Amino acid sequence: MSLILLLFLSITTFHKCICSNHTVVRCNEKDLEILLTFKQGINDSLGTISTWSTENDCCAWKGVHCDNITRRVTKIDLNTYFYEYEPVKVLEGEMNLCILELKFLSYLDLSENNFDVIRIPSIQQNITHSSILLHLDLSHLYGPLHMDNLDWLSPLSSLKYLNLDGIYLHKENNWFQVVNTLPSLLELQLSHCNLNNFPSVEYLNLSSLVTLHLSGNNFTSHLPDGLFNLTKDINSLRFEGSNIYGEMPSSLLNLQNLKLLDLSSNKLQGLIPDEIGQLAHIEYLDLARNMLSGFIPLTLGNLSSLYLLSIGSNNFSGEISKLTFSKLSSLDSLDLSNSNFLFQFDLDWVPPFQLSQLSLSNTNQGPHFPCWIYTQKSLKDLDLSSAVISLVDRNKFTNLIERIPSELILSKNSISVDMSNLTLSCSWLSLDHNNFTSGLPNISPTAEFVDLSYNSFSGSIPHSWKNLSELEVLKLWSNRLSGEVLAHLSASKRLLFMNLGENEFSGTIPMNLSENLEIVILRANQFEGNIPPQLFNLSYLFHLDLAHNKFSGSFPHCIYNFTHMVTFHIYELYSTTIDLFTKGQEYVYDVNPDRRTIDLSPNSLSGEMPLELFRLVQVQTLNLSHNNFIGTIPKTIGGMINMESLDLSNNKFFGEIPQSMALLNFLEVLNLSCNNFDGKIPTGTQLQSFNASSYIGNPKLCGAPLNNCTITEENPKTALPSTENEDDESIIESLYLGMGVGFGVGFWGICGSLFLIRKWRHAYFRFIYGVGDKLYVILTVKLNSFRRN
Ligand SMILES: *[C@@H]1O[C@H](CO)[C@@H](O)[C@H](O)[C@H]1NC(C)=O
Ligand SMILES: *[C@@H]1O[C@H](CO)[C@@H](O)[C@H](O)[C@H]1NC(C)=O
Ligand SMILES: *[C@@H]1O[C@H](CO)[C@@H](O)[C@H](O)[C@H]1NC(C)=O
Ligand SMILES: *[C@@H]1O[C@H](CO)[C@@H](O)[C@H](O)[C@H]1NC(C)=O
Ligand SMILES: *[C@@H]1O[C@H](CO)[C@@H](O)[C@H](O)[C@H]1NC(C)=O
Ligand SMILES: *[C@@H]1O[C@H](CO)[C@@H](O)[C@H](O)[C@H]1NC(C)=O
Ligand SMILES: *[C@@H]1O[C@H](CO)[C@@H](O)[C@H](O)[C@H]1NC(C)=O
Ligand SMILES: *[C@@H]1O[C@H](CO)[C@@H](O)[C@H](O)[C@H]1NC(C)=O
Ligand SMILES: *[C@@H]1O[C@H](CO)[C@@H](O)[C@H](O)[C@H]1NC(C)=O
Ligand SMILES: *[C@@H]1O[C@H](CO)[C@@H](O)[C@H](O)[C@H]1NC(C)=O
Ligand SMILES: *[C@@H]1O[C@H](CO)[C@@H](O)[C@H](O)[C@H]1NC(C)=O
Ligand SMILES: *[C@@H]1O[C@H](CO)[C@@H](O)[C@H](O)[C@H]1NC(C)=O
Repeated sequence: MSLILLLFLSITTFHKCICSNHTVVRCNEKDLEILLTFKQGINDSLGTISTWSTENDCCAWKGVHCDNITRRVTKIDLNTYFYEYEPVKVLEGEMNLCILELKFLSYLDLSENNFDVIRIPSIQQNITHSSILLHLDLSHLYGPLHMDNLDWLSPLSSLKYLNLDGIYLHKENNWFQVVNTLPSLLELQLSHCNLNNFPSVEYLNLSSLVTLHLSGNNFTSHLPDGLFNLTKDINSLRFEGSNIYGEMPSSLLNLQNLKLLDLSSNKLQGLIPDEIGQLAHIEYLDLARNMLSGFIPLTLGNLSSLYLLSIGSNNFSGEISKLTFSKLSSLDSLDLSNSNFLFQFDLDWVPPFQLSQLSLSNTNQGPHFPCWIYTQKSLKDLDLSSAVISLVDRNKFTNLIERIPSELILSKNSISVDMSNLTLSCSWLSLDHNNFTSGLPNISPTAEFVDLSYNSFSGSIPHSWKNLSELEVLKLWSNRLSGEVLAHLSASKRLLFMNLGENEFSGTIPMNLSENLEIVILRANQFEGNIPPQLFNLSYLFHLDLAHNKFSGSFPHCIYNFTHMVTFHIYELYSTTIDLFTKGQEYVYDVNPDRRTIDLSPNSLSGEMPLELFRLVQVQTLNLSHNNFIGTIPKTIGGMINMESLDLSNNKFFGEIPQSMALLNFLEVLNLSCNNFDGKIPTGTQLQSFNASSYIGNPKLCGAPLNNCTITEENPKTALPSTENEDDESIIESLYLGMGVGFGVGFWGICGSLFLIRKWRHAYFRFIYGVGDKLYVILTVKLNSFRRN
């Protein structure tokens, strides 16, 4: 009967469309109404769904699919993932779940948008029909998006796929009970949902479940032993980083179809059970970053389907030998990093696998480079940092590393090989803290990250380095390199981190450096010539260290554009650390890469400082010492409220110390010594808390902590009335302006950087939400290496 009715309906609609001016079939009125209600909540300022207008048939709207015959909406796909390489075009505003009232909807994907709020109409009453929704993906990438409860799920009894990744569900205490009643569910993804109560229920009642991803929650719980008694078909299980305690539940071993098991980054204890050898189909086993202990069971060596094995960063002990890997012929990715295993490989061992990724960082491999690695012909990523290696077979070693296309990390060993004339093809190269000597290797144009610091490389930059167009990070700190370097880097338009310090480089700073530079460290070299004004137009620059060189000339007066000193930037995302020079002249290993610095100390710079310099409100360290600067300190210096370290010593500054300097509340280091300052040091301020050495060598300066002034209080106005006047009015303006700039810069700082390194950005978000196993592995390695720095 209903079939006939349906047929009748469709014929009439079809008929209607034939009669209208062209063959457009209008969508169902009720569907249209629901879609319009949904659209009402959306802030489409980016025009993502601009086609959603009543002038068009709703079946032709972007992302809306209708049944060809009934013209009812059956599928909505507004996933914005496809915009990956365009500026991100996402939906914002309210996600109104009234859309679930669409009677014939079987597929709904609103993932990877940027909704601020979810509206849940009490649709339970209104969904009188039995829902035919099979696929529901509301996963969310960006900021917090809250959902109070999951009761609305109950009527969706046909659901096979449910993904609410990234939606905060911490107020929903019954999430487990709710999902446990969805009888058809095959795939459940509730990663990064802030779930914090693990069910008291003993088992998952979803007998058809195939995929269960609950990573990135905070369960603070053990996994109940019978949890997987009723879900024997699961083949993909992720609990990564979910604060799980206790032992691996024995019911896990019931999951005979398991292909992927990720329990990494939890607090699991105890042993890996011998029975793990029964998981005959397992391909991906990640138990890294737990507190598991004991030996690695030999049964593991029987898992011939294993593709990824990651068990690093645990408390395992015992031997790793060829028996551990006896039948692992499919192994592609191996992580044994941060472990105390005793590695017992025969010199002539030829593994049954060919790896593409290997991490043995922070293990004891040495002193010989592990010979079996030479047999690996398809390595893409190799991390052997801190592996106590000092001896290599030069031919085999150079053969191996020249082939690696992606990531080569050999940091913190004592490897000493002549690399000159080699050509490395990797895009990520870390050879820092070794004993490499002689000339630099050639580097492929695809290189993005190069860290060769703390070695004994000598000679000049090879010609091949002129083509490093992808380079983003270059660290050559502390080698014996010489010759011109900067001219070679003008093709590196993406460069944002350049540390060439502690070498013997010479030459001048060219005008055409990368406009993306954030950090420039040329410290302790033989650079000379003027500082080109272009350097101060680098919008993202926040750390400029030109100290201990031979720069001369006066300071460019365009410095105002240098106010683009950022407070946030990409490195924060990676929680990396970089070597920076902070307070005073000490070399400090700083855990905070955010230090906004200008250091021009020991050079031959002269002339007056431009007033604009003293408007750089974000600066934390300003060191102009040991130059020939002249002029007075303007009162605007009081606006540089973030200043922590100020060194103007050994110059020819004169005039009074402005009272406004007392506003520098965070000042910890002050050195004004050996200038021609005069008058009285402002009293009643913390300027007295510095000792006399901060002020000595200014014969006409008096007052605590120096000698008492002999002249009576009212000092006559000293030099330069014109600048003084300007100072008076500009101090407030500077403060105000500085704040504005600070905000603008902070905002664009993060957005700018994110846009610049779009690839990293996507990689980062993907990492967070665990999309793509392979990428995940690559990133973990990458992130770890960032952290290590
Ligand atoms: C068809 O109708 C639409 C309005 O529904 C109108 O804008 C359009 O001009 C018509 N086209 C023709 C060919 O009549
Ligand atoms: C829409 O989003 C834009 C960009 O995020 C924002 O500037 C605007 O205020 C929003 N409008 C409404 C009505 O929320
Ligand atoms: C429905 O239309 C789409 C696109 O117009 C077409 O690819 C599909 O084959 C059609 N399905 C049926 C059942 O006619
Ligand atoms: C349920 O449907 C009725 C009529 O169809 C409507 O008036 C009401 O607003 C709906 N309730 C909700 C919560 O959307
Ligand atoms: C699974 O859950 C349903 C609904 O809660 C219940 O009726 C059924 O008895 C449960 N099955 C088992 C084996 O516990
Ligand atoms: C996880 O939950 C515990 C206790 O419920 C709490 O102390 C801890 O701060 C939470 N951790 C995170 C990262 O939220
Ligand atoms: C789970 O199964 C094991 C045996 O396979 C049994 O010993 C245990 O009692 C079961 N747990 C529950 C909660 O059913
Ligand atoms: C590996 O599997 C074979 C055959 O299935 C079995 O005989 C052997 O005992 C297993 N080895 C280990 C170490 O479990
Ligand atoms: C590198 O090449 C130069 C010139 O071709 C040669 O003199 C030098 O010996 C080579 N160095 C090594 C280590 O092969
Ligand atoms: C580095 O190599 C030199 C000789 O090439 C050697 O004298 C020195 O001890 C090595 N340093 C380290 C830390 O291995
Ligand atoms: C400063 O930057 C602005 C905008 O980026 C630009 O128009 C101006 O020319 C720059 N000033 C100097 C002196 O380069
Ligand atoms: C400076 O003057 C104060 C009183 O104003 C006096 O107590 C102090 O001893 C004097 N110090 C010197 C070094 O003359």
